[in-house]
Amino acid sequence: MEKITFTMIKPEAVESGHTGAIIDKITKAGFRLVAVKKTQLTGDAAGAFYAVHKERPFYGELVEYMSSGPIVAIILEKENAVEDFRKLIGATDPIEAEEGTIRKLYAESKAKNAVHGSDSDENAEIESSFFFSELERF
Ligand code: RTP
Ligand code: MG
Repeated sequence: MEKITFTMIKPEAVESGHTGAIIDKITKAGFRLVAVKKTQLTGDAAGAFYAVHKERPFYGELVEYMSSGPIVAIILEKENAVEDFRKLIGATDPIEAEEGTIRKLYAESKAKNAVHGSDSDENAEIESSFFFSELERF
């Protein structure tokens, strides 16, 4: 069975009109869209989604930013999905991201870095379930 990963197009990338270009890049890289939803996180929801980072100095800023405007949540499917998607998006800080990666192309800063990508198969499932029921996955 193909593996899944989860991504969010973050508020500044949606606001800047990059949603279409980012999805195009993702599908051209061989990922299949399993579920897609445009929505806006409340502060509580963003806090829960990023609960693993609760002790990090940037947590408050991250929660405020991620709830500041609409995001696009997407479940993606591909062989080796988690690792291949992290390669496609590039390093957390766009200054360190490789040429051609989504963050190199579209991120504004380390905090406003255009897209999220799951870091493990386990988290891909947890994050997907945060936004989508089984009946919303095709
Ligand atoms: P993500 O979870 O969003 O895919 O990003 P990541 O794995 O590359 O980075 P992570 O360490 O999980 O951090 C989560 C998000 O927090 C923001 N951040 N800000 N100001 C800062 O120093 C800082 N560090 C991280 C970024 O939005 C990052 O994607
Ligand atoms: Mg992460």
